[in-house]
This record gives sequence, C-alpha cells and structure tokens, in this order.
Amino acid sequence: MRKPILAGNWKMYKNTQEAKALVEGLASRVGKLSDREVVVCPPFTSLAIAAESMKGSNLKLGAQNMYWEDKGAFTGEIAPGMLRDTGCTYVIIGHSERRQYFGETDATVNKKMKKAFLSGLLPIVCIGETLAERESSETFTVLERQIREGASGLSAEEARKLVVAYEPVWAIGTGKTATPQQAEEAHKFIRQKLAEIYAPAVAEEIRILYGGSVKPENSKELMGQADIDGALVGGASLEPESFSKIVTFDL
Ligand code: 13P
Repeated sequence: MRKPILAGNWKMYKNTQEAKALVEGLASRVGKLSDREVVVCPPFTSLAIAAESMKGSNLKLGAQNMYWEDKGAFTGEIAPGMLRDTGCTYVIIGHSERRQYFGETDATVNKKMKKAFLSGLLPIVCIGETLAERESSETFTVLERQIREGASGLSAEEARKLVVAYEPVWAIGTGKTATPQQAEEAHKFIRQKLAEIYAPAVAEEIRILYGGSVKPENSKELMGQADIDGALVGGASLEPESFSKIVTFDL
C-alpha cells in the first residue's frame, strides 16, 4: 500500500524563530507517526533551523524549489546538493506560483525533476489546471501535457518514487476546494496516464497528493478517496494545530 504524505508548503512565510516554533509544535503533536510521512517545506532561509528543530522526530524536510545545476555563476539560485546538505529529503517542483510568476515551464520542471533524482532528492511535482482551462473543458488535456512533458524520461526505479501533487490553480488560496469527486476523477486520470507512460505496477506505487484549500474541515473526505494519497497544504500548514488535524486522519 502507498504510504500517505502530508506536506506543508509554507510558501514565503515564517522567519527563523517562527519556523523553530512551528516545527517544535508539529514534532510534539505528530512527530512520532510512522504510518504516514509528515513533511515541512519552509523557505530556504529557515531550512537549517527547521532541520535542527525536527531532530529526534520522524518529520521530514523539503524545499520549495531548486536549480538544475550543481554549482556555478547562477546568482540567486540554490543547488540540489545544498538542499541535501541542509537535510532535505523532498523538493517541490513546478508549483503553479512558480509557473505563473517565475516562468517555469514543463521543460524546466522536467530538468529539475531529473536532477532531483540524480542528486538524491525526491521531487514533489505540481500540476493542475487554471479556472479558464477547467471552464473550457481542457482539464484533462492540460494534466496529460503536464505529466507527459514534466515527468518524462525517468527510469522505472525513479518513477516509483515520484510524488505528484494535483493542485487545481483555482483552488489554491481561494477557499474553494475541489469536491472529493472532482479531485478523485483527476487523480484517477493522472494515475492512468502514469500507467501508460511507465507501467501499471509503477503507477500503483506513485503517491498523488491533492492541494488547494485543504483544511481540517475538508481533509478527511478528500483523504478517503481511492487515488488520493495525501495532501500538499498551504495556509493551513502554518499553524501546528490545523496542520496536525489534517495529518491525523484515520488510515
Ligand atoms: P492553500 O492550501 O493555501 O490553498 O495552498 C495550496 C498550495 O498551493 C500548496 O502547495
């Protein structure tokens, strides 16, 4: 069975002291769980203190982005080795905010994803349609393109470890969640495409997370869907109480 992942994407929130308090709050509440993975993804500047504060717990660390080169004259970028060195296990790639504001494309997502695997990081690759795309019935075309182009060229061994986050752009930070049925329909489609690209047995192992206004009030029903293997949580991951409530659903 696929082990669920509950990941908190802190986006551009929390200075170092706030990060320490949040990680400690999570460690005391959900830090001993071993039947699910609990991941926090702070901004780069708080990765080190988050790593330090989660020592002795089962919490895992992730970054929100990385570059695809090992080193060099790339002002402002962060290399995968630097993330490993700071204690990261995961890295979010191709979040819709990076696609929208920072020019990420399926091609850059693909480069970053391959490099993450080569560097020993596990990518959480984000895909999802905009409201305009959903309203013009392009959801499945967009998802298929994002998967085929973004996740192409992996070995079966790598593909098994891939984590995909389905985040409909219209549901991010808007309070409008996809219904469990809408989300499950998309997740099922994504798994079918992964089965076509890799193999059915590989697709069965890939964790597909839902993201977009996940809250303690709606998480249980979403997590109960057959092809939903966890959540990528923004706003509700910024407080230990709300994130812990999302983490502790019945398996
Ligand atoms: P919200 O949970 O704030 O809608 O953000 C979702 C998200 O973008 C997680 O990556």
